[in-house]
Amino acid sequence: MKRVLFGLAIGASAIAMAGCAGSDKSATAATAAPSAMAASASGGGSTKAAATLAAKSGTNTAGRVTFDQQSGGVLVGVLVTGLAPGSVHGFHVHEKGDCSAPDGMSAGGHFNPGGKPHGQMTGGGDHHAGDMNNLTADASGNARVQFLMPAVTVAPGANSVVGKAVIVHKDPDDYRTQPTGNAGGRIACGVIAAS
Ligand code: CU
Ligand code: ZN
Repeated sequence: MKRVLFGLAIGASAIAMAGCAGSDKSATAATAAPSAMAASASGGGSTKAAATLAAKSGTNTAGRVTFDQQSGGVLVGVLVTGLAPGSVHGFHVHEKGDCSAPDGMSAGGHFNPGGKPHGQMTGGGDHHAGDMNNLTADASGNARVQFLMPAVTVAPGANSVVGKAVIVHKDPDDYRTQPTGNAGGRIACGVIAAS
C-alpha cells in the first residue's frame, strides 16, 4: 500500500514537470530506499524509456508513453490523441519493437516473458507482463493516465520493456479472451526506447 501511494505521488509530480530531468529527486530522497536512490542517480538511460505512438490502420491516433522505473514497478505516463470521444481501447506492451506494418501486426503478440495467460493488470490474477488497463478517451478524444505497471522493468532483463512496442487497439480489451483480449485492430504503435 505504501509503495502504491508513493508511486502515485511521484506520478503527480512527474506530470507537473514532464521533461524536466531529475524533477522528482526531492520526493525520491524523502521516501525511497537507499538502493533505489543509488540506481536512480547512476541510471542514466537505464531507468527511463519512452515510445512515440504513430497512427496505424488508417486512423489519426497518435501519442506518447513514458516509462520510469520506481521501487514498486514502472510508472507509465500516457497521452493518446485522436480517439473518438468517450471511446475505450485495449492497450498493451507487445513483444516486438517493430511498428513497420500499416496495421501494426509487426509488433507481434502481447509481451509475455512469464508465459502467463492474458488478463487484467489490476485484476489480482495472472496476466501478461505487457497487459495494461483499457484507455478511455475524454470528450476531446484524448486519453491521459498514469499508473504503476508491476511486472515489467526499464532496466535490461527478461521483463524489460525497452525494445518492445506499445499498441493502442480499436476496441476494448475484455481481459478474458486468450491471448488477445479481443481488442480488435491496432490503431497506433510506438517502439519503446531508452531515454
Ligand atoms: Cu495489444
Ligand atoms: Zn495480454
